[in-house]
Amino acid sequence: MARFLIRPWQDGDERLLVRSATGISATSLRSRFFAGVPRLPETYLRYISSAPRCEWDAQVALCGGRLIGWAEFTRTGSPAEADIAMLVLDRWQRRGVGTALARSMLRRVADAGVKVLHADVELGNEAVRRLLTTVLGETRVLGETRVLGDARMPGQTRVPAGSDPEGRLSAKIQDGLLHYMMRLDGQL
Ligand SMILES: CC(C)(COP(=O)(O)OP(=O)(O)OC[C@H]1O[C@@H](n2cnc3c(N)ncnc32)[C@H](O)[C@@H]1OP(=O)(O)O)[C@@H](O)C(=O)NCCC(=O)NCCS
Repeated sequence: MARFLIRPWQDGDERLLVRSATGISATSLRSRFFAGVPRLPETYLRYISSAPRCEWDAQVALCGGRLIGWAEFTRTGSPAEADIAMLVLDRWQRRGVGTALARSMLRRVADAGVKVLHADVELGNEAVRRLLTTVLGETRVLGETRVLGDARMPGQTRVPAGSDPEGRLSAKIQDGLLHYMMRLDGQL
């Protein structure tokens, strides 16, 4: 696995993020922000620079002082629920950074009292599906991923039917995206 450091977001990290932006492809930007944005949106950068930490927070991955990825959560109204998202710079993808970020971020959100997580993902985002299965499976929070209903996701094999009777990780297609919902039970 590549060598990198993961730590909580610190004030001013948005500058590291902007500096790293040349390492983010249009494809990765689209997978994260969906709208085909040509660069990190200004509104997003303004928001993360000023949002109260109890509302928005992140874990960052660094190598040699440079930001190579981040995983974030945003509380969605209820203090017990949050949206999560993440991005790893293209040349760092498939080297374990996303999995490490997700693990550390899930521990943080659980410590912060979040019980239910949501993640919107493009249909066919195989990396996220595998990552969630690995991370959440290992922590025994849930069984297998499943899709509610009977939809097929383009570009990927059908998600196996779940074996988790409590449905702690589920996914459904909503507004053209795959919406994951994860229930945390404190065993992270
Ligand atoms: C999703 C993302 C964060 C994963 O980060 P990463 O550092 O590549 O993840 P890892 O190296 O830890 O790999 C996680 C798993 O995904 C798999 N994977 C990674 N990239 C993949 C790809 N392009 N296609 C298929 N599988 C892929 C890995 O093989 C691994 O699976 P395994 O655990 O079964 O071996 C990264 O691909 C990314 O930034 N994508 C663009 C933004 C995005 O899609 N964000 C998610 C929506 S918010």
